[in-house]
Amino acid sequence: MGINFRKETFRDDFTFRNSPEQVKRFPFPYHEDAYMYSVNIEPHVAGPKNSVFEHLIDVDEHYVSEMQDRAMVLAEDPLRCQSLPHMTLAGWDLLELLMTEMAKGYPEHFTLTQDGDRWRWINRPLGIDDTFTFGDVSTLPYGPMEYITRQSQGDFAILDQRDGNLWMDAGMITTQADWSLDFDIGMNFFEWHAPVPLAHEMGVFTRALKFLTNIQQGQPARRLNWTMTINPRLDTSPENFHKWGSDRLSVTAENVGQKVHLRVELQTFFRLPRSNALVFPIRCYLLKMDELVSVAKWGRRFHRVLRDLPDELAEYKGLTRYRQTVVEWLSKYDDGAPTSPGF
Ligand code: HEM
Repeated sequence: MGINFRKETFRDDFTFRNSPEQVKRFPFPYHEDAYMYSVNIEPHVAGPKNSVFEHLIDVDEHYVSEMQDRAMVLAEDPLRCQSLPHMTLAGWDLLELLMTEMAKGYPEHFTLTQDGDRWRWINRPLGIDDTFTFGDVSTLPYGPMEYITRQSQGDFAILDQRDGNLWMDAGMITTQADWSLDFDIGMNFFEWHAPVPLAHEMGVFTRALKFLTNIQQGQPARRLNWTMTINPRLDTSPENFHKWGSDRLSVTAENVGQKVHLRVELQTFFRLPRSNALVFPIRCYLLKMDELVSVAKWGRRFHRVLRDLPDELAEYKGLTRYRQTVVEWLSKYDDGAPTSPGF
């Protein structure tokens, strides 16, 4: 049985919501009642059925609408997709990874046929049936990275590895939590992480870089990150801050349940075979507060996490204006019962 793709928007009238099945598979990111940065990286192995880890590349009910939103962002601002000249080979590597994994995980929706370098790609949800020569850019309507990431949920940064560091030399970034590819392009791991508070002093980035530069082909890794977003808006970029910044002032006790969203990023890391680059897909999952409290243990835990979050993190994540209103709203769902670690 295939996925039932929803027709919805992530702007203007904001009709996005999750089906009950989608709420159940939401990657709730907290292992305890408090949160602090850490090197929370683990092997990216296939997980339980109906979870976001079932396949290495997750496709869900929001796929078609997310791809439409991406096309709108790119039409307004082509610089959300950039690839420095030496990254074209990595783009082909990424195209291969995504086509292979999507066809394997969702054969009813995607089919890849390979006859030497002659490849045929069928994407049924988006109505695409293209035949092209692998490695020959002139046979695709866009460069390989842009072609496949216009058809893949989540943002993608491709990092070149040299001099013991990672360099953000290509990417498709249209659903980001307030950072800019156009600003970060060509930066290294420490440079693009410079604005993050506390984690540098804790040694998080030195250890994380060591881990990432040692990732081997066929042994991907993953971590979860989170923030919050007002309205189910995917494009919370600095470029469009004038469109969404003031949304933060619109939260009231009455509208928290529908307006405030937990935004979780499933971040994965794959070594690419020909280029030796690292690709960093960032899959964004949104959950309304009304949806979150429909799972009692999530409501209880998220209340405590948000209430006790260090001020530096709340400030960096942009939660300060509405945090107290949301904490008070969530307190109704916290009966004070002890929680189990690890769920
Ligand atoms: C934030 C990129 C891997 C930890 C960020 C930001 C970017 C980014 C662009 C936003 C910085 C800003 O405010 O402008 C990447 C890329 C990675 C990567 C491309 C892959 C190579 C990691 C890893 C860790 C990590 C492995 C830790 C284990 C963090 C943390 C933040 C952050 C803690 C702050 C997030 C928040 O509080 O919401 N990253 N990152 N990153 N990154 Fe990374």
